[in-house]
Amino acid sequence: MENTVIVLGLFGSPRRGGNTDILLEEMLKGAEERGAQIERIIISELKFSPCLECHSCDETGECVIDDDMQRVYPKLLEADWIILASPIFFYGVTAWTKALIDRVQPLWVRKYQLKLSPGDPGGRRNGFFISVGATKGARLFEGAMLTMKYFFDAIGADFAGQLLFRGVEGKGDIRTHPTALQEAFEAGKALVNGSVQGER
Ligand SMILES: Cc1cc2nc3c(=O)[nH]c(=O)nc-3n(C[C@H](O)[C@H](O)[C@H](O)COP(=O)(O)O)c2cc1C
Repeated sequence: MENTVIVLGLFGSPRRGGNTDILLEEMLKGAEERGAQIERIIISELKFSPCLECHSCDETGECVIDDDMQRVYPKLLEADWIILASPIFFYGVTAWTKALIDRVQPLWVRKYQLKLSPGDPGGRRNGFFISVGATKGARLFEGAMLTMKYFFDAIGADFAGQLLFRGVEGKGDIRTHPTALQEAFEAGKALVNGSVQGER
């Protein structure tokens, strides 16, 4: 079991069974088919507070808020792959997703203030971002991509790739896209082989 790849899927949409959920499930299916161990976190089902900016973590690298995030931290650090899926809400990730991201401030502190490695050093851990938006503008994903870049950096993961789809609005509309589900499935298979690349 020691070589089993652990893939953590973070579901960032409050709409269960919506477009990003569908894409993330396809990607997890691909990874599972290649033997990965799959973990799922539905962010909107967590009971947790946004960051309170209390700065308690400055000294310890630990968050003092006793809520469901306490069981998320170890999962973020154990996973070989962290796949975060969030639709675009007002040119960023959803508030649910952003609240979780802000709560990784203790891991940022460990890395940049306490100079501790938050995960396994050496680029073994990787992050992947899935997103969709209703509109088609060239800059649709820019805000979210920047947030994801710094999220993955804070948790000690390389930002290894993304799947981004424009013009997808209604619940489940992604199923009518000619290639999206297959792309997600293939990306899931490829990440277990370590061959995934940035797409789109
Ligand atoms: C509060 C809210 C804000 C949104 N903001 C944007 C936006 O800024 N740009 C955009 O293209 N689509 C926006 N959308 C549309 C969603 O990104 C789109 O419906 C997406 O397919 C939802 O994905 P899901 O089914 O995974 O939740 C917004 C939707 C909601 C509910």
